[in-house]
Amino acid sequence: MSGIYIHIPYCKSICNYCDFYKTASLSSVDKTVLNIAKEIELRNDYLGNSIIDTIYFGGGTPSILTMNNLKLLLSTLNSNFTISKTPEVTLEANPDDLTYEYLHEIRSIGINRLSIGIQSFNDSDLKMMKRRHLAIEAEAAILLAKSSGFSNISIDLIYGMDFSSDQRFIENIDKAIALEVQHISAYHLTIEEKTAFHLFQKKGKLKEIEESRSNEQLLFLRKRLIENGFEHYEISNFAKPHYISRHNSNYWKQVSYLGIGPSAHSYNGHSRQWNIANVMKYNKSLDNNILYFDKEVLSEGDKFNDYIITSLRTKWGIDTSFLENSFAPYLAQHFIKSISKFLKNNDLILDKQRLTISEKSIFLTDYICSELIYVQ
Ligand SMILES: C[S@@+](CC[C@H](N)C(=O)[O-])C[C@H]1O[C@@H](n2cnc3c(N)ncnc32)[C@H](O)[C@@H]1O
Repeated sequence: MSGIYIHIPYCKSICNYCDFYKTASLSSVDKTVLNIAKEIELRNDYLGNSIIDTIYFGGGTPSILTMNNLKLLLSTLNSNFTISKTPEVTLEANPDDLTYEYLHEIRSIGINRLSIGIQSFNDSDLKMMKRRHLAIEAEAAILLAKSSGFSNISIDLIYGMDFSSDQRFIENIDKAIALEVQHISAYHLTIEEKTAFHLFQKKGKLKEIEESRSNEQLLFLRKRLIENGFEHYEISNFAKPHYISRHNSNYWKQVSYLGIGPSAHSYNGHSRQWNIANVMKYNKSLDNNILYFDKEVLSEGDKFNDYIITSLRTKWGIDTSFLENSFAPYLAQHFIKSISKFLKNNDLILDKQRLTISEKSIFLTDYICSELIYVQ
């Protein structure tokens, strides 16, 4: 089983925090969609004979695509790959794009999971982030998606924002719970270079949240969502039973995937490659049936590090017997040596060959990963 990711690098406006590859100049959308379809055809052998179990339209803002755009991409996927009988097909959507008619139509062509970029249910937060929607529109979009028959709805929220209050943070979580969505991705704000937030920070208008407050928020988020029937299955992801994102879980389980579209990444177990992050150059090359990409062949150390970083972020953790059997002895020895201080301190818990991060140390995840990876 494998997955396919399709990157739609267009947004009607650019949010202050976002450093994903995207452009707000929309005149080339149709041309890019044609070239994405062409790339699907050119790369139909990348995953061998593997059956495609998940398809994910991410961005950017895939919900700016018309029905014709989406139909073309889905039919091209269908004629170039073997798709499983019950695939998970996700579309990332912005609240202001979702009309009753659009929702009905996308459902009728097989999109069965929505990932709605809500970010916050508070108008001041939304304004600060430069989102295009109001809080009331965010709520309405979720209700509309439900009444259109979507029963697998995920929302994105951002927390850890110094400019927001703890009260608003709690209200956001409670609103998400009350709306009875099946899945919540809650990302801690990161101030990325080359974003408006980075500029605000340099001018002293925005600062990082204090570490202790950030830690408290993560623990609170986890507690509140677990109390309300969600499972915390990855550091930023929470799901009601049976609604874990199949597509994203596969990234964390080293399942191969094909990434199509400008800047999209692909992985086949041995190498990673990423398409050029430039719509104009992407289109120009594909007009000549060529794809510009960079590629990295993974060393044994890279594969080991990938396994550590992705597994430790999940509730499944590291399978120590898999690790011992799959990697060279020097890596297994490095691993045993580096986990000992974390085990002693109860930062890591070993239970039946599964090594996971303890609840008290969950906000140390990045630090612990950095200590466990192998640096030559
Ligand atoms: C690819 S983006 C989704 C794009 C979608 N068009 C939107 O704006 O909602 C996936 C999610 O990553 C999160 N995200 C992006 N940049 C972030 C940042 N700097 N810090 C925290 N979360 C971020 C947001 O929650 C966003 O919805």
